[in-house]
Parts: sequence; structure tokens; C-alpha cells
Amino acid sequence: MNSTPRADYLSLVQQLNHHAKQYYVHDDPEISDGEYDRLYQALLAYEAEHPDHIASDSPSQRVADQPLSHFESVAHALPMLSLGNVFTESELHAFDERIQKQLLKSGAELKSNVAYAAEPKLDGLAVSLRYENGQLVMAATRGDGSQGENITANIKTLPSVPLKLATEHAPELLEVRGEVVMPRSGFKKYNEWAEAHGEKVFANPRNGAAGSLRQLDPRKTAQRPLSFYAYALGATSDSVQFTRHSDSMQWLSELGFQINALNQVVIGAAGCMAYYQHIGQVRSSLDFDIDGVVYKVDDLDHQAALGFVTKAPRWATAHKFPAEEATTQIDNIEVQVGRTGSITPVARLKPVTVGGVTVTNATLHNEDEIRRKDVRVGDTVFVRRAGDVIPEVVKVVLSKRPENSQAFVMPSHCPVCQSELHKPEGEAVLRCLNGLGCDAQRKEAIKHFASRKAMDIDGLGDKLVEQLVDAGLINNPADLYQITESQAAGLERMASKSAQNLLTGIEKSKQTTLPRFLYALGIREVGEATALTLANELKSLDAIIQADTDTLVALPDVGTVVADRILAYFKQPENLKVIHDLLDHGIQWPAIESIDDAQQTLAGQTVVLTGKLNQLTRSEAKSALQNLGAKVTGSVSAKTDLLVAGENAGSKLTKAQELGIQVVDEQWLIDQITD
Ligand code: IVH
Repeated sequence: MNSTPRADYLSLVQQLNHHAKQYYVHDDPEISDGEYDRLYQALLAYEAEHPDHIASDSPSQRVADQPLSHFESVAHALPMLSLGNVFTESELHAFDERIQKQLLKSGAELKSNVAYAAEPKLDGLAVSLRYENGQLVMAATRGDGSQGENITANIKTLPSVPLKLATEHAPELLEVRGEVVMPRSGFKKYNEWAEAHGEKVFANPRNGAAGSLRQLDPRKTAQRPLSFYAYALGATSDSVQFTRHSDSMQWLSELGFQINALNQVVIGAAGCMAYYQHIGQVRSSLDFDIDGVVYKVDDLDHQAALGFVTKAPRWATAHKFPAEEATTQIDNIEVQVGRTGSITPVARLKPVTVGGVTVTNATLHNEDEIRRKDVRVGDTVFVRRAGDVIPEVVKVVLSKRPENSQAFVMPSHCPVCQSELHKPEGEAVLRCLNGLGCDAQRKEAIKHFASRKAMDIDGLGDKLVEQLVDAGLINNPADLYQITESQAAGLERMASKSAQNLLTGIEKSKQTTLPRFLYALGIREVGEATALTLANELKSLDAIIQADTDTLVALPDVGTVVADRILAYFKQPENLKVIHDLLDHGIQWPAIESIDDAQQTLAGQTVVLTGKLNQLTRSEAKSALQNLGAKVTGSVSAKTDLLVAGENAGSKLTKAQELGIQVVDEQWLIDQITD
């Protein structure tokens, strides 16, 4: 068949949309960024020549041109409702009983417990998207529920929002409601960038999402990491008919929307409770903030029978997690010295329960943050704890500030070693540059060296490291290997059995791997993944020590910042001396052979990677699999031998499970390459 330039162009649009969705929505790219760029440039070239033929769903149409002067107000075709709340198990039971009673009263047949569509309650911003004949024509914020703001230009920049529905039979009208969130990973990256470029940092991902959507310049919104999850239908033409909410979500997913992978239909109050507990457990590992879960009666006839009370449906409720913010008073502000000399101010608080946990300390991040929030000793403050992150001070209640309180001033000298503090150019953090000459950094460096993912020294906890340093028995990691049993047994509260265990643990740690050893050194910016790359690519410690900038930046995912840190580390004679001593004490690892048949444990196997990885980048995971002999492909089929599933794995995981294919997680892969 002969293809015409027009047909080629339309196929480009399709391909680019497909690949953008694989990348942004499924986190599962099938082509490299470079290939994507090449296709995109070809598309732009055609569009420049044929400006009248630009497809409405061309990816180029996401990028808006001009800032707006203001947002227009728009009316919602159907109001955007809010939700009632339950906080406890008994309130949940009361909700479920009320529903059963009302359904029976309305004459509905209830053969068993009520089925609920259970979903995470995303902590972002509610928006409504309006599609007419399959084209996105309007996006609006919730506003007061009946009127919102027209944010169409901004919403179009979100890769997870389809510009055109993926169907030949689009309804005349379809409103899709959902939440725009800033993923935690994107929030963190964005704030790092903002800090480095003197732009405003966001206090939390929700503020990030709200601030980015209320940006008058859509070109700025386009640079923010935002993601849309659909959770309900709004107004639709009559042709849109479903019997269950969960079916309508499945349909939206087929039309190209992102639906939360954790959505699940559960039965009765007991099913809701189990779901709530499950989501509570995985909450901290999710890439987005949630403040509870939502239960919706799944049967849409039942929803209609139940109806609404004022602004909320009777057929749904939010089951909230305990508040993660509380107020308390600051007793003192102290500064802590981190492993790399970073000086972090910490608020010592009157103990307060936040989200079920007692909090006595909260980080104040750095000098700029203290100044921005103007946090002072004696202040009453809001403290926030999200998941397992360190609690932080959100803001000061100024009306409760004691008279004659004083602004906090950062110390000019290290509180531990008294050397002068410096703020390196372009960094927000004050540092003690005394390195292992500073007791605090020495202790942190040794703790890191001994930690589980580094040398994994059994029996050597943080407290013991502090005791050993304080007793003058060790000054650096290498000294650990000279400790005698009688020295260890002489420490306070040290039984002879624990002293023996410590020495056994230290002895055992001598057999290690090169990636672990490199990570244990605690070079700035060299985490587990970078250590693995260095070891796999450069093969020997000598080669790594001798590598120059060009060699380093040529490695996957090593940039100039990381390269500079590595060079600076190996330039220090003290560091080389510690390494030398460690090797003298007998630390060793198996040589990293160039791809050797014996190591090719996945030789000839077809492997698929899916979901979000936390420790490896996708390209690292892929090359690691290839080094093990695997063929890495993009989709799961009967030919697939193994699925490596990261977090939030979606349809590929389900399919692999259906086909009975072996599924492993990221840690499994790391174990294959490190052990
Ligand atoms: S359903 C009629 N589902 O919670 C049902 N809302 O008070 C209306 N939210 O700001 C909402 N995740 O944006 C629903 N899975 C979810 C949700 C969710 C977050 C937000 C919503 C609104 C608030 C409702």
C-alpha cells in the first residue's frame, strides 16, 4: 500500500501519543527519549509546512502559546459534589447500615452485602474535563461546586489527559471528573530545581498541583510534573449507560484515561475496612499523597435510588486517615550535622501525636526555610507528618507568638567540631567542611559504612558506633577492623556475647561486593544505583579511582555533578588512605568479569519490566537484565518468561498473573546483580 505524506503524518500523531502514554501513564517506555524526539521533530516539520492540517490531538497542540490575563469563570453542567466523612470503624458501619436500610426502603433488591468501589482519596485538585464528540473542549477547576475556573490551556499540557478520546464512537458529551496531583517524586525534583534557580518551592505536593494549575502562563504549567487520575463521570449524553461505577472506570481507562491501579470493588463494611487498612499500609510507598480512601456504592441504580443530601451524595463517603497535622510548641531549635557536613536546623517540640505517632522533633530544612517561615523558639506551630518522611514544621501561629521572641540565627561554627561553616555557591545548605575531622561526620560516615545496604555489619547499630567513637576506639571505617574483643567488651552496657557478635559481624563483612563497598564509602551523590553502575561499567576499584571526567560522564545516568563528587572524593589523600587500610584488613569482593556465561542466569529468557522502580533507573534495570543474558521486551505474552514488577504495576502484572508467568520485584533484580 502506498502511503501519502498525510497518512504518514497521522500515523506519527498516533505513534507519538502512544509513546507519550507509555511513558507518562504506564511508566513503561518502549522507545528511547532520543527516538521520541526524532519522531516529534518530523511531526513539527510536517506541521510547519501544513499549518491548516494540524490534527487536534497532535502532541504539539498541548503546548500553549501565550499567558492568560485571568481565568474565566465557567458553570459546571452537573455540580461537582463534595463527600461526607467517616473517621472510625463504627462510623463506617453506620454508613453501610444506613445505605442498606435506605435501599430496602426504596424497594431495591438487596441479596447480599453492598458492593463498594473503593478508591484512594487523592490529595490534589479536583477538575472536570469536558469532551464533545471525542475532543477535549474545556477543563475547569471545582471552584464552589457549581462554577469553576477555565483552566483548559493548562490542562492540555498534562500528558495523562487525552486531547481526543481513544474511540471511533465518542459520545456527543462526556464530562470526566478526577484529581490532578503532583507525584511525590516529581515534587521533590521540582523543588530541587526551583531551589537551585531561585524559584518558589512548594510546601507540599498538593500546593504544587494547585499552584501549577492556577498558573496564568501554560508554558510554565507544562514544565511541572502533574498527573490526572479520573475517578467519576460528570454530565454525559444518554448514550453513555453503565450498570456499575467500576465498569464506567474501566471504560474511561479504555478511552485513554489514567485510573488508579489501587481501585478495587469490595463487599460490605468488612471489605471496606480491610481495604482501608491495606491502603494505610502501602500509603508511604505510593508516589502520590492521599488523605484517606473513598467508598462508592458500585451499583448505579442504587446510587440513583440513594440520591443526595445538600452537596454530597448519600451513596459515597470518604474514610479519612488520622490527621497528619497537629499544633504544638517549639522548646528549642538545635542544629544537626549530617554525614556530608550538612547543617540541618531541627525543632525540639513539646511531644504531640500526629497521625497516630508521637512527634518530638521536626526538621526545619535549612536557613532559608527558617527565615521564610520565621520560626522561633517559643512559637506555636503546625507540624506535619506524611507517611514515613521526617516530620516538618509547616507554619507558625503568629497570634500565639510570645512577646520579645527573637529571630533564630544560624551558628557560624560547627556545633560539634567548632570549625567555621560555609555555604557553597549555589547551595541552600550550610556545611561543615571538616569531613572526617568532625566527630559528627565521622560517626555518620561510620554508621553509613556499617548499614544494611552498605557493608551490612551485623551487631553494629548507631548507638554502638557513637560509643566506639566517643571512647576513642575508632576514627574511621578502617579502624573497625582493628577492634579487639576485650575493647568491645569494655564498653558500657556491652555483654561479652554482644562483643563476640560484633566481632563476628565485622569479620563477616570482609567478604563483600564492589558495589556495596563503593556505596559504603559514602561519596556524595553516589547511592546504590550509581555504585552499581560504576562497578558494572568500570569493573575494578582501581579503574574507578583513576577514571577522569570524560570516562565518568560517559556512564549511564552519571552527570557532571556526580562525576565532580567522585573525582573530588578520590583526590583526598585521607580518603585514599582509608581505602588502602580497608583493603589491608582483608576486605575483598569477587572480580566483576566481563559478561561471563556462568553469570548469565537469565540467558535466552524473555523478560518484561513494568511499574515504578525506586533504586534503579529504567535503563539501568534494562542493561542489568541484558547483562544477565535476558531479552527485554515491552509487552507480556505467552512467550514471556519473567516479569519484573515495580510499584503500582498495572495491566502487565495482571496479565502475567493470568498467564501464570513468574513475577519478581526490583529487589530480586538487585540481588541478582549484587550477590
Ligand atoms: S468522588 C460525588 N473519588 O475528594 C463524588 N473524590 O470531597 C465526588 N477526591 O475534592 C468525588 N479522590 O477531588 C472522589 N477517588 C476519589 C477522590 C475524590 C480525591 C476529592 C475530590 C473532592 C473531594 C470530595
